[in-house]
Amino acid sequence: MKRGSLAIALLCLAGYVSAQDIQLAPPSKTGGKPLMEALNGRQSHRSFEKKDLPAQTLSDLLWAAYGFNREGKRTTPSSQNRQEVDVYVMFSSGIYLYDAKANKLILKEKGDFRTALGQPDISNNASLSLIYVINLDKNSRDAGLMDAGFSIQNVYLYCASAGLGAVARGSFTRPDLHDAMKLTDKQEVALVQAVGYIKQ
Ligand SMILES: Cc1cc2nc3c(=O)[nH]c(=O)nc-3n(C[C@H](O)[C@H](O)[C@H](O)COP(=O)(O)O)c2cc1C
Repeated sequence: MKRGSLAIALLCLAGYVSAQDIQLAPPSKTGGKPLMEALNGRQSHRSFEKKDLPAQTLSDLLWAAYGFNREGKRTTPSSQNRQEVDVYVMFSSGIYLYDAKANKLILKEKGDFRTALGQPDISNNASLSLIYVINLDKNSRDAGLMDAGFSIQNVYLYCASAGLGAVARGSFTRPDLHDAMKLTDKQEVALVQAVGYIKQ
């Protein structure tokens, strides 16, 4: 086994979500269902089985959401290419920022902040929740809201392709989430999106 793969396997065994910064597996960028089938399967799911995503799935999901697919540009468009949205990941163990360039999750806050997400039957059973945060220093709120939508649809389609469930959510508790994430007054949460294993 190569060193990188071994490190990832060990992270998996140790439960990667309790690590500090998490080096993600290289995203696959291939495979999956044909686009038309993924579009046909796209829908919101709200009932999840409590289970962590495998390391490869986590990496592929994040790459679909907001990874780089060519020099300096991402899997999503952004107004004037300002790339003003940051994607955070909330696990039961903490909140991480997706650093797509380094292909890493950067630990921001340790602890369980899922009550700030609202809809506990969704948030507590999902494998994770993605949090789309607009950086208002880079672009307007309107642009950020629109641009977050592209990531959200990418994630819906990735999940339809990978047999996972997802739901976009606007019903989080805004001040609580803002505080939990220690956001500045130049940052605003656009939307949250739960992802997990569909309960049959
Ligand atoms: C901006 C936005 C906010 C949403 N907020 C919530 C929410 O807070 N809770 C929820 O359960 N679903 C939420 N949804 C999911 C919608 O209810 C869902 O997309 C809609 O019912 C259509 O169902 P479908 O996605 O399965 O096609 C939201 C969707 C969008 C686009």
